[in-house]
Amino acid sequence: MQVKDMMFDGHPHVLKAQQFSRSFAEKVFIPLSDRIQKMLAVRSCSHLLDGKGMISLFTAESTRTRGSEEIAFELLGGKVILSVPGAKFSSAMGKAESLVDTVRVLSDYCADVIVVRNDSDTEMPIAEIAERIQTPIINAGDGADKDKQHPTQALLDLYTIHTYLGAIDGISVAMIGDLKNGRTVRSLCYLLAKWKIGKLYLVSPPGLEIGTDIKEYLAKHNVDFAECNDIRDVAGKVDVFYQTRTQTNLGSAAVDRNDPKNGFTIINGEVVRMAKEDAIIMHPLPCLGEIVRAEVDGDHRAVYIDGHKGKPSQLKCGLITRMAGHLLVVSPEVACSLL
Ligand code: NCD
Repeated sequence: MQVKDMMFDGHPHVLKAQQFSRSFAEKVFIPLSDRIQKMLAVRSCSHLLDGKGMISLFTAESTRTRGSEEIAFELLGGKVILSVPGAKFSSAMGKAESLVDTVRVLSDYCADVIVVRNDSDTEMPIAEIAERIQTPIINAGDGADKDKQHPTQALLDLYTIHTYLGAIDGISVAMIGDLKNGRTVRSLCYLLAKWKIGKLYLVSPPGLEIGTDIKEYLAKHNVDFAECNDIRDVAGKVDVFYQTRTQTNLGSAAVDRNDPKNGFTIINGEVVRMAKEDAIIMHPLPCLGEIVRAEVDGDHRAVYIDGHKGKPSQLKCGLITRMAGHLLVVSPEVACSLL
């Protein structure tokens, strides 16, 4: 491996899931994440980003993404030199300064990477902001209407699937819930389209179907997909259940999931009983009732919070892959030396 092999498309910015090729994922990202997982277990990675600094800027609420991005950086020995959570309350964005101006200002403060989340569709998309600054940017979830994306979530989801199922080729996946505004779903579709997956079932309540841009992309990449609105119709056929909540913060109207006219998009005990023995149930979280937790959490297929068979949970995969991401963005030489 050479340092140039660490340079994914668009390096050093992480803006869209399409930047990551199958070969980069298989030869670099997954092996690097496996390596970090082992190093993390014995805490032997705490010097890898010595002297490096990160800024995080989140215009909207976040527990997992902000937490794991910041903790990942610190676990590698770097420093979070500025953390701006809830930028509307804790920065001049509260005085209506734009996101692009805010990021441009912060990019002058000597950070090695800026991690940005934006939930507003009136701000400039993070990918366009990145064109205006020198500092590497990691898109930690963009709500801009033009292209809602959450690429680091897609990478962690891919790593979770790989960890539990081994192969990506041939697997069948059901994406369930708000597929219209769900940026995790959109980014994961872009990424999975690089493999020859079995069948992709897009299961949403009427009105929250996935966008035509994604359908066109899937068709162009020969992904065999089907849309429906009752998860029970396909529950016995899938290897991955990817459940999501309704994205009310990104413009979706709340859905009464108990109203039959909205189809059936809940994962409960009945759905789990139909599932294959070695399927996995994922959720990017937060979970707001769309998984009946009392009936599903204890099942060995539920991997969103608890891992199984000694494997990391989806949550933990988030920490591991964000460590891998920081190394690739900030210190490709160090990443390369680990492979
Ligand atoms: C997701 C997001 O913010 O898009 N959350 C996350 O990053 N784990 C999904 C969601 O909020 O529903």
